[in-house]
Amino acid sequence: MMNKTICVVGLGYIGLPTASILGTKGYRVVGVDASPDVVETINRGEIHFFEPDLDILVRSAVHSGNLVAVSKPQTADIFIIAVPTPLDDSDKTPDISYVEAATRSIAPYVKTGDLVLIESTIPVGTTTGAVLPILQRDGANQADGVRLAHCPERVLPGRILVELIDNDRIVGGIDDESAEAAAAFYETFVRGQVYRTDAATAEMAKLAENTFRDVNIALANELSVVCDPHGIDPWEMIKLANRHPRVNILQPGPGVGGHCIAVDPWFIAAGEPNARLIRTAREVNDAKPDWVIGKVREAAAEISSPVIGCLGLAFKADVDDLRGSPAEIIARRLMDEGIGELLVCEPNISDHAAFTLSTLDDVLARADVVVLLVDHKEFRSLRPEDLGDKIVIDTRGVIR
Ligand SMILES: NC(=O)c1ccc[n+]([C@@H]2O[C@H](COP(=O)([O-])OP(=O)(O)OC[C@H]3O[C@@H](n4cnc5c(N)ncnc54)[C@H](O)[C@@H]3O)[C@@H](O)[C@H]2O)c1
Repeated sequence: MMNKTICVVGLGYIGLPTASILGTKGYRVVGVDASPDVVETINRGEIHFFEPDLDILVRSAVHSGNLVAVSKPQTADIFIIAVPTPLDDSDKTPDISYVEAATRSIAPYVKTGDLVLIESTIPVGTTTGAVLPILQRDGANQADGVRLAHCPERVLPGRILVELIDNDRIVGGIDDESAEAAAAFYETFVRGQVYRTDAATAEMAKLAENTFRDVNIALANELSVVCDPHGIDPWEMIKLANRHPRVNILQPGPGVGGHCIAVDPWFIAAGEPNARLIRTAREVNDAKPDWVIGKVREAAAEISSPVIGCLGLAFKADVDDLRGSPAEIIARRLMDEGIGELLVCEPNISDHAAFTLSTLDDVLARADVVVLLVDHKEFRSLRPEDLGDKIVIDTRGVIR
């Protein structure tokens, strides 16, 4: 197994860590990326996004000759597809065109006995309904005898190299032989359990994981909104409710962002009228920023020439990732509405296209209304006495 050649298509957050781990485990890895910059950067032994320890691993895999980046696929024994699957913003339908393009690009090189693994997050039915037909149509020998499986990723950015090895994996084959071949491959480098199933179950299981998080956060967000008119502190209430042995309510926030939890539920809900709870949860979470803005508007109305200070722009604590961030959505809308002078503090980035960034000290010195949007470590030590007589809108429940 170890002398095999692996072709990894898409060298982003998932593909590059996977390719470099495999390159240091004795496989010969050919990494393919559509971006010439990505290919050049990797071949210099460098990385194009930050992930702890990835630079060391990539350098070592490239310098050993076991990882080489190229712009076009080539013959291999195992093909791994890890290209993006974004949402079409207009109607929230998943865009599988990158997966289809990547499959078309490998098809001429896929021969009998090869293994094709789809790691991209995909809607149910994509493996057998979209990938397999392309391999059958364009494959070197119509994919006769090809093994194909969906093997979703569940790594957490910031811990990708640890979780790629330690997490349990699901491998969903188009047939038993495919599932078995995929499992045997992952078992050569994964320490977690590898569970075999069919492709559709694996596709749905991956989507169900982030949907579980989204629906449960929606419950917490809704509870925080219905607590408000009663003057109930939702964090205190949830802490008490969670003393019940079978209750575990999650924490409310300003909404849900990032590129997974706010996206993957639509892969189930788009075009599925029976996904009522999932769609409603998305709507509840997407509406939370409006509710926060309403609270800021109310607070600002009490002050002449109000100064509003927003703490945090990232989609979650202690990261610099602003993708789909409700905090950034709120800050941008406050700016567009012109509800007073706006100060924005985001300690994890050095500049922002729309805002001149302020320090925490600036915000504490000047703001009349402080809106805590992200529970970054810099803000977690804030106490009510640090805020004096300012109006505080704490969407994360950290100032206490
Ligand atoms: N990032 C995560 O934490 C995470 C976690 C679980 C699952 N996923 C899923 O994994 C998949 C990949 O996500 P990512 O975050 O690694 O994406 P990414 O945007 O970081 O990287 C994708 C790479 O693929 C390249 N690419 C696009 N089309 C290509 C093609 N046809 N041929 C070759 N290269 C191509 C791009 O240039 C880019 O470098 C997505 O489906 C995502 O939903 C991501």
